[in-house]
Amino acid sequence: MRKVSLGDLFANSYTRKYISRSGLHHAISTAFHAFRLAKQYNVDVDLAVKAAFLHDIGHYTWYRNGEWDFELYKKNDIHAIKGSERAHKLLIKLGEDRENAKEIALAILFHTDSFIPGGNLQLTPLQKVVALADEADEEPGGKHHYKKISAEKAAKLIAKLDKKIEAEYESTTLKQSV
Ligand SMILES: [Fe+2]
Ligand SMILES: [Fe+2]
Repeated sequence: MRKVSLGDLFANSYTRKYISRSGLHHAISTAFHAFRLAKQYNVDVDLAVKAAFLHDIGHYTWYRNGEWDFELYKKNDIHAIKGSERAHKLLIKLGEDRENAKEIALAILFHTDSFIPGGNLQLTPLQKVVALADEADEEPGGKHHYKKISAEKAAKLIAKLDKKIEAEYESTTLKQSV
């Protein structure tokens, strides 16, 4: 039984505020990619989807004269670190299992190696799934951050993904009990 659903995260005003900075469309799209990849890599679908949905929650808005300043962003960004901490705080507040909250926070921390000199991280399968899911939705020039989605459509997709996760859990439990 999941303690926190994707719907619970989406209903939270803190999530909405910070996810909107990097785009709700990108968060949902990455979460769908994570579901598919989690099954492929035999990773817990619930952890992968929640980490993917929250992976860019650490963004700051690097605006200068009304435009996103990529130079300023590249120089000062720590969104993976900030997002990891924000997501962990949020998950614990909503009652997430502590081990799960840690796994999700670490997957968010390592979804990009842009802040680590030299890169080359040894990722766990969950961390790899979240990084690949993010990459799968990326578009040149960061266009994936600007795609729009209505709150109504977002809520429908999130409910759909929650059902897919529940169904996956049920079928896994069934296989284990036979
Ligand atoms: Fe990111
Ligand atoms: Fe991203």
